Amino acid sequence: MNMVDVILKKKAGGTLSPEEIRAFARGAADGSVPDYQLAALLMAICWRGMTPEETACLTMEMMHSGSVVDLSAIDGVCVDKHSTGGVGDTTTLVLVPLAAACGAKVAKLSGRGLGHTGGTLDKLESIPGCSVNVSIEDFIRQVQKIGCAVIGQTQDLCPADKALYALRDVTGTVDCIPLIASSIVSKKLASGAGAIVLDVKTGSGALMQTVEQSIELAKAMVEIGAQAGKPILALVTGMDQPLGTHVGNALEVKEAIDILAGRAAGDLLTVSLELGSRMLIASGIARDVEDGKARMMQALTSGAGLAKLKEMIVAQGGDGRVCDDVDYLPHAAYKISVPAPASGYVARMDTAAIGRCAQALGAGRQKKTDVIDPAVGLVMDVRLGDEVKAGDSLATLYLNRCELANGAVESMQRAITIAKEKPELPPLIHAAVSREGVTR
Ligand code: URA
Ligand code: CA
Repeated sequence: MNMVDVILKKKAGGTLSPEEIRAFARGAADGSVPDYQLAALLMAICWRGMTPEETACLTMEMMHSGSVVDLSAIDGVCVDKHSTGGVGDTTTLVLVPLAAACGAKVAKLSGRGLGHTGGTLDKLESIPGCSVNVSIEDFIRQVQKIGCAVIGQTQDLCPADKALYALRDVTGTVDCIPLIASSIVSKKLASGAGAIVLDVKTGSGALMQTVEQSIELAKAMVEIGAQAGKPILALVTGMDQPLGTHVGNALEVKEAIDILAGRAAGDLLTVSLELGSRMLIASGIARDVEDGKARMMQALTSGAGLAKLKEMIVAQGGDGRVCDDVDYLPHAAYKISVPAPASGYVARMDTAAIGRCAQALGAGRQKKTDVIDPAVGLVMDVRLGDEVKAGDSLATLYLNRCELANGAVESMQRAITIAKEKPELPPLIHAAVSREGVTR
């Protein structure tokens, strides 16, 4: 296969054949196609797009570029959930134990924080002793025994995506719907789940900033599922402010525990119930969305969800006492308030900037090799639409390095817009996308 011809064809707006797409994905995985040709083809795809058939073909080729996890030893349908990434987005730690307590089998391979967004693995590792490096055999045994496990991706999962994603990151080719859709779905399919519920974020903290683009991305992923014969459905949910109030690893674990213990609620719980309910439907446990939400709430109020989280933490080597007393989680040395610079209404948040602020305090990595501080981050003291007086606390910073305080206070003040007029609030659940269509 002459890769230059493939690049020229896509550059001219042509449709690539399955053989051409295979050569591209294999060449990325085994290094036989040089980075400059991969990058040129990625840019041509960004400009010319891909048909649904090309996108599905690229997805399957990336999925088969490495090993595919076989979950057939687990009884029943394994369901998975994936978020396109957000800030204060801890739905996994809330809904996985609730869905498992309702009888679902959740075998989840998660990722680490990326840019301004947090990652479930980093959050789990903030629990003393908790390991996310579990062999696939132990992973399957754990799901079979207690109904859930959340671990890191194996080294050889989707090597084509690893190579292409690293190139996209440095060639301005991340924000392209067929490339995002194939990247996400290839990893989910390779993780072996029988059904997948996607949480496509939209707004100032999301990969896709407009609702229309987010719906397009959701449709592209649902369509790949249809072509691959895997049920995939997606919710498009708001990321116009951090979803939970807590941003940072141990802080987000604390919020998830507080919710499962019935001490906290809010948008994080609402989105977790919506997603979890769809997982119960896909598992054949719930009849419809209302039934699913009622079952999830029953697992919450009975304490079964919190007990399940504790079981999962203990199974992965962690200190289960964090579920009884959050003081067993790591603590930051200092707490500093971010005062509102003026009186008015909280009108807008630059959610990505809030995520970057937590990252700068040490909750995320700026470079791959950076070590995360599990204790640091921030807690939002306001939501969009709240009325504040000058000097009221907008957020509380949790930090271990005092010298970072002034810069962080200033970036938080810049990230939160206070206006005279009460703003109109964006919806939390924008749309549900399935094979049947888009429901708003
Ligand atoms: N997350 C992924 O895994 N891939 C993308 O392309 C974008 C977000
Ligand atoms: Ca993942």
